[in-house]
Amino acid sequence: MSRDELLAAAREAALRAHCPYSHFRVGAALIAGGKLYTGVNIEISSYGLTLCAERSALATALSAGADPITQIAVACIDNPADASINRRTPCGACRQWLSDLAPNAIIYIDGVSQDFSCSDLLPHAFGL
Ligand code: THU
Repeated sequence: MSRDELLAAAREAALRAHCPYSHFRVGAALIAGGKLYTGVNIEISSYGLTLCAERSALATALSAGADPITQIAVACIDNPADASINRRTPCGACRQWLSDLAPNAIIYIDGVSQDFSCSDLLPHAFGL
């Protein structure tokens, strides 16, 4: 799947985001073992227990036994067109998940032309 196709899948997934508190819809789409898996952000009434779209997609792929994860796309579809990169890139927790679970993946961010590796996003990541 091409970069553009995976980003389109992330945007499409984001339409299913469950974010009644922030109304900030995020979708993630990844390729693992050659197959497509998606995730969305899921918010609950205890806000700190929110699950981000990236971790949702990673959990879905790993739960299916899919491996290895080669590409991941993330789309925050409620951003204005001129939103800064900081409103588009994965949060710190998701960067650690990505580093642990998809260390060799290429990361595509909707609205950002640069592609990223895990170490671009989280240098010197913790690991056991
Ligand atoms: N969010 C994600 O899904 N991924 C990120 O990497 C950053 C933030 C979600 C969490 C919350 O539902 C909403 O975006 C606003 O923070």
